[in-house]
Amino acid sequence: MKKALSLLVAFAMALSLVACGGSDSSAAGGSSAAASGSGEATATAGVCWYNFGDTFIANARNTLNEAAAADGTIKVVDADSLNDVATQTSNINNFYTQGVDYLVLNNINNNAIAEIIEQAKEEGVTLIFANTNSPTDEEFAMYDKVYHVSSVAEQSGTIIGEALAKYWNEHPEADRNGNGKLDYIMLLGIQGHYDTEVRSANSLKALEDAGIETECVQETICNYQRAEAQNQVASILQARKDDIDAVIACNDDMALGAIEALKAAGFFGEGEYIPVVGVDATANGVEAIKEGTMLCTALNNPVTLGNSVYKLMTVLEKGEEPTQENIGIDGTTVEGHHIYINYVGITADNTEDAAY
Ligand code: GAL
Repeated sequence: MKKALSLLVAFAMALSLVACGGSDSSAAGGSSAAASGSGEATATAGVCWYNFGDTFIANARNTLNEAAAADGTIKVVDADSLNDVATQTSNINNFYTQGVDYLVLNNINNNAIAEIIEQAKEEGVTLIFANTNSPTDEEFAMYDKVYHVSSVAEQSGTIIGEALAKYWNEHPEADRNGNGKLDYIMLLGIQGHYDTEVRSANSLKALEDAGIETECVQETICNYQRAEAQNQVASILQARKDDIDAVIACNDDMALGAIEALKAAGFFGEGEYIPVVGVDATANGVEAIKEGTMLCTALNNPVTLGNSVYKLMTVLEKGEEPTQENIGIDGTTVEGHHIYINYVGITADNTEDAAY
């Protein structure tokens, strides 16, 4: 809805604030963050998150909704894809039916990026891919209103791989079965998800670059979920307890699940130490680093993600293109239609850097 309708929108949102204290249910099954800032909303954004229950996504979602509520330029309505492609598609269609101006997509339908762009073009809606892989140059060329806001997955894999290499080189006893190889368990996020593929590949590349020979004891998909990781690692330990030298988890929730399973199998505390690395630097992840169970994580800043998405929309609403200056958020690099969010390595030496 464009500026001509802004008074009507502001009125509607005022009603929503009175009725619901700034939050109500949307047809797409999520919530809406209404304006409480000084300005009037000039546009609406429909946001499809892949899973409201995911720790990192929950933090990014809160930030985006809070930014919208505080500023008020863009009304944000969101929906949960429930980690299901069909639900994501139906949420997208609902948002188009509602007449949104922006579609923010934490995409899980990786085989349909071109189709998703084509549909946005037909609808005349600005499309922002968030926390997902980038469309290719050809896909960007299909439509001039496509943007991408995401962390640089390669960095996270390198950070955790290098931390593991350092530990291995400084601790000869880490080779628990003495085979001269770093035997690892790899815990993957959702199947085919860009972050998980790049993190796993780059962590192994960092070990290889450090001249360390590795052996995969088991690689297993745990969907970024703590409980799944705990179950999987518990069963791997039953079979191969003496062969595990490290756990590489593609996020902190899975690393925390692995740590629980390792504790139950007698590791940590009085028992042996096994290095576990994760990604995100969630509050619980950082606690595990402080407690001495997790070796390293890479801060994936959900606040920067949520704020960058919101700022991008406000910049576009002013008719500008994003630049380093007008986005102006620390830890980001703006390049054309991309906003890249940089990771920060977190170990016991710098847990204070994980605050956001
Ligand atoms: C990653 C994050 C994971 C999970 C995933 C969902 O960037 O590290 O914890 O939230 O996004 O897309």
